[in-house]
Amino acid sequence: MRPRFLFAVVTACMLTSASAYAEDPIIIKFSHVVTKETPKGKGAERFKELAEKATNGRVKVEVYPNSVLYKDKEELDALQLGAVQMLAPSLAKFGPLGVKEFEAFDIPYIFPTRDVLHRVTEGPVGKSLMKKLEPKGIVGLAYWDNGFKDMTGNKPLLHPKDFRGMKMRIQSSKVLDAQMRALGANPQVMAFSEVYQALQTGVVDGTENTPSNIYTQKMHEVQSDLTVSEHGYIGYAVIVNKKFWDGLPADIRTQLEGAMKDATKYTNAISEQENAQALDEIRKSGKTNVHVLTDAEKAEWRKALLPVRKEVEGRVGKAVLAAVDKESAALGAQ
Ligand code: LMR
Repeated sequence: MRPRFLFAVVTACMLTSASAYAEDPIIIKFSHVVTKETPKGKGAERFKELAEKATNGRVKVEVYPNSVLYKDKEELDALQLGAVQMLAPSLAKFGPLGVKEFEAFDIPYIFPTRDVLHRVTEGPVGKSLMKKLEPKGIVGLAYWDNGFKDMTGNKPLLHPKDFRGMKMRIQSSKVLDAQMRALGANPQVMAFSEVYQALQTGVVDGTENTPSNIYTQKMHEVQSDLTVSEHGYIGYAVIVNKKFWDGLPADIRTQLEGAMKDATKYTNAISEQENAQALDEIRKSGKTNVHVLTDAEKAEWRKALLPVRKEVEGRVGKAVLAAVDKESAALGAQ
């Protein structure tokens, strides 16, 4: 009996340890559309590193950058279907999902400073916007910054009248559509991964984006002019599939929340510098003329774009606008 008992114990131990080792890690597929060298690309890599460390390898994060898995609209479908678990789409891309309020972030010149923006995203309105994703099967975890957008084209774009008749690529936001129309341009919604080729072949004449996105997609190589207009903002909502997230063991979820908090701090701390460097690189490349608007030109742009806010108020709701006004007043920012 004894040897048999020993054999049973040893076998049981072997099985236990084997199953402990064989326990498959939880995989988080994190898909996004920009390169690894952007604020979002770096943030995703940082989250991977922190999440894997915090969970002692029980979670493995696979990052798929630069639309290698999915383009803009497809990735939201894939998240809802559970084919990927995590994304960080720009706030301009939630309209087609039915959450139009995020498009308030696209209103030209809405944020006088980054501090105002952060007080809005970190405050009750930022949280209530994330809650609107839950009926869509999505949980919002964090807001990540990219930065302020510039305009590009194949001619100097110094005055609103310079945009007349231009075909301008935009993200899928009705506010951006209204913005381009206010300038007299023809907006065209297009996936981010298609923009370089569309600019190169003349399918569109110009676009708007952050220096980091323009530089890492090499858009400046196929656009002769860039105007440092900083007329609008690009930021992201880091989101997960709700069923996946709710099904995680509670301790893992807490560890992942911690990793996300730290990855968010990191991303938001590097984004401004990353964009400044990218603009420098664009200048140094000598491929694009970089124009900085004079105060008088800036005033013309503001005047032309001011009506957009009124026009889209009904679509985006008043909550974000009121929060921006409140935080601007609190910080004495205009
Ligand atoms: C764009 O489509 O222009 C951006 O939203 C891409 C991104 O994710 O920064």
